[in-house]
Amino acid sequence: MLRLAAGILLATALWAAGRDTVLFDTDSGLFGDDGAALVMLLRSPAQVTVAGITVVPGNVWAAQGAEYMLHILDLLQRPQIQVYTGARTPLVHTAAMAHEAGRRWGKLEFMGAFADNPADVKPAPGAKLSLRRPHHEGAVEFLISEIERHPGEVTILAIGPMTNIALALRLRPEIETRIKRIVFMGGNVQVAGNASASAEFNFWFDPEAARIVLRSRIPQKLMFGLDICHTAVLRKAEFDRIVAVRTPITDLFREDLGNRYPGFLKHPEATGYMWDSLAAAYLLDPGFVTKSETRYLDVLTVWGRFYGSTVPLDRRSVPDATPVTVMQELNFKRLFGLYHDRLTRQD
Ligand code: RIB
Ligand code: CA
Repeated sequence: MLRLAAGILLATALWAAGRDTVLFDTDSGLFGDDGAALVMLLRSPAQVTVAGITVVPGNVWAAQGAEYMLHILDLLQRPQIQVYTGARTPLVHTAAMAHEAGRRWGKLEFMGAFADNPADVKPAPGAKLSLRRPHHEGAVEFLISEIERHPGEVTILAIGPMTNIALALRLRPEIETRIKRIVFMGGNVQVAGNASASAEFNFWFDPEAARIVLRSRIPQKLMFGLDICHTAVLRKAEFDRIVAVRTPITDLFREDLGNRYPGFLKHPEATGYMWDSLAAAYLLDPGFVTKSETRYLDVLTVWGRFYGSTVPLDRRSVPDATPVTVMQELNFKRLFGLYHDRLTRQD
């Protein structure tokens, strides 16, 4: 009996050891692609353990993003997952710079939190504020301590601007090589931007932070930029397949994707992108990516028309920087099968 119990314990430990430990760094709005990414990972306990959620300003300010994350955790009945806010602003970029950029160089497609008041925190529609509160401003310390506790084992899933991560790398540079890998949504190599004409939103919101990460020695950098994201389009048909299954999560999905971006209930011909969900899906089934290439990349940080654009890295000035695996093509059926499966589960 004792031997059996010991065997079970050992098997459990080995099984846990095979799982990816994930630090989930997000700029979540109400649900969207960040919320879908979280649901996908939390419903895949055999593959990943989410060690904690760090929230960064991006789509919305961090206090609002934390409230949205807590609401999703409440719906999933996962009170044990801790939520941390960290940076209150990007490193350099400000709302004033963004507004002035729009005036000088043409209207921005999307300004995210720069269009909002940082003091406003509202509950999800039809809900009350979560009874839980985030740990205020512990995000950067949490990232550092988790990486130091598990050297070589931690995957950072970075699906917002990279402010928290850049601050962690600046506070404790030696953690760079102790991170197993960073899987991120951000940047654009050969396609146009979606915040400004030239820059992708996560890189544009905090270009200096993205630059610090791309110039770092993190051993593996796996990039889901706009190039591959443009090949995974959500249409009303896919939306309908998900909302046909009624659960608290699919109701929230319906509210957000139906009435906000991309607004399928108001504009059935609308199309939307799965962005962060691709990066999360990669942790569960990397085989859905069918083509990738390796490049050394950097981010333009001169304030001007191209602020936040992804550019080739001048390696002579950053000889230690590691390369980026740029994801390019995918099998949509396989990706959507995974997305649909995780979003429509009943638990
Ligand atoms: O450009 C897409 C990115 O911007 C995604 O992370 C999405 O959530 C938005 O913040
Ligand atoms: Ca995001």
